[in-house]
Amino acid sequence: MNNPWVAIPLADYERHMASPAVGQAEMLALEFGALLKSHAPKTVALVGCAGGNGFDKAAEVGVSRLVGIDINARYIADAKDRYADTIPGLELHCADIQGDMPDLQAVELVYAALVFEYVDVPVALRNISRLCRPNGLLAALLQLPKQGADAVTHSPFASLKELNSIMRLVPPGELLDSAEAAGFACLSQKTITLQSGKQFSLQLFRLTSGLPTGCRNHFCRNRT
Ligand SMILES: C[S@@+](CC[C@H](N)C(=O)[O-])C[C@H]1O[C@@H](n2cnc3c(N)ncnc32)[C@H](O)[C@@H]1O
Repeated sequence: MNNPWVAIPLADYERHMASPAVGQAEMLALEFGALLKSHAPKTVALVGCAGGNGFDKAAEVGVSRLVGIDINARYIADAKDRYADTIPGLELHCADIQGDMPDLQAVELVYAALVFEYVDVPVALRNISRLCRPNGLLAALLQLPKQGADAVTHSPFASLKELNSIMRLVPPGELLDSAEAAGFACLSQKTITLQSGKQFSLQLFRLTSGLPTGCRNHFCRNRT
């Protein structure tokens, strides 16, 4: 089965995400910018980077190597057109995070925003653990369920409806278990609420080793 993401035009996706009913694009970039300011990594990867939402934040704080990975080759080509001339150290790869990944030099921070909803989580996390340096960070942003609302917000862009066939909201507790099994320890978790009422979880993990570690963060553990 073809992944529906490869058939969604970037313009449809970006207009959907920027529409007032959805309003998520800005939040995703702002959270990325805040992580860059708090942790000051010099090397960063965005998994499921689409057309480069948030790349400008990395350029602003002087990240020296910025890796963007997406399954849609056209998104990667558009991101290249937009940013290759202005962001030194930009490295873009069309790859499936739950498939055979290219052999990439590991980075200090991996940001995976709204991508676990579309993949086999343990498989993707194993690949992400290879992309992350020992002691490096993984920031994972998940959409939380909203009562009475569809997971994919209704929008005029028909191409996005195809996502309903593969999208699955991932409970933060499930991500935590899989992340620990992949060698990550949870450092923090917070909930983000948009004006629309939609909520998101942002979990920050550190790659401690290849061995499972107990999470001492009760807030993180108690989210289901
Ligand atoms: C909901 S979008 C999130 C995009 C981005 N993080 C943002 O700030 O707008 C999910 C992205 O993940 C990509 N994606 C989905 N499945 C993937 C996979 N298996 N491997 C790599 N990228 C994937 C999609 O093509 C899409 O660009």
